[in-house]
Amino acid sequence: MSRKVIIAGNWKMNKNAAEGKALVDELKAICSNCCCCCEADVVVCPPFTTIATVVEAVKGTAIKVGAQNIHWADNGAFTGEISGDMLKSAGVEYVIIGHSERRQYFGETDATVNARLKAALKYDLIPIVCVGELLDERENGKTEEVLTRQIRGGFEGISADEMAKTIVAYEPVWAIGTGKTATPDIAQAAHAHIRKEIAGMFGSDVAEKVRIQYGGSMKPDNARELVAQKDIDGGLIGGAALKAASFAGLVKEALGK
Ligand code: PGA
Repeated sequence: MSRKVIIAGNWKMNKNAAEGKALVDELKAICSNCCCCCEADVVVCPPFTTIATVVEAVKGTAIKVGAQNIHWADNGAFTGEISGDMLKSAGVEYVIIGHSERRQYFGETDATVNARLKAALKYDLIPIVCVGELLDERENGKTEEVLTRQIRGGFEGISADEMAKTIVAYEPVWAIGTGKTATPDIAQAAHAHIRKEIAGMFGSDVAEKVRIQYGGSMKPDNARELVAQKDIDGGLIGGAALKAASFAGLVKEALGK
């Protein structure tokens, strides 16, 4: 079955509103000469304060906007948090959940990932749920066990239909921002394991529909080979998403152009 390639740029805590607009304007200039954004789903995920400007800047293009986090409550006394309603009404369509930086530095657990996922689905946002092992977990042969735990905990209690529209990002923590990309074989093995776990929970039809992105030092020069793997359906891109030329180049490579 063929799944549509999805490339999402995770800007992390980079780009104020003016810088975000400049990046999108550059992307638009490059993209006016090609149709990559029609063939792949292309998403940019700016920080919260840059979202409104970027939503405006992408109007009339196929580029979609995502957020980097969502709170599980509808509203209330949760200082510093942002709700699904706020994201939706700001024009956001996707949301990254459970990024390893949130797990490492902000106490994110599989239970909070699960709560955030349910909020995203409730507000009809497309979730991008991140999973991935630490270096010592890989070195101790625990990769599959960790992925299984994150998937079972993160996706507990959602319906098969909800799972089918959810995107999973496999991001081995040792490859994020380090320049060390997982080899296509290593990444493919992890993606196959993730798909097998999803099949176990939701059935193989659903598992075949779910798109699984690779993330961790993906760049234009390794995107083609990674996305050519059977179970790799795109990328969640950090560093290479901060420059229009590398992000656009990466989309093209991922499409095999
Ligand atoms: P990177 O980040 O591409 O800079 O490794 C990926 C991510 O953290 O989503």
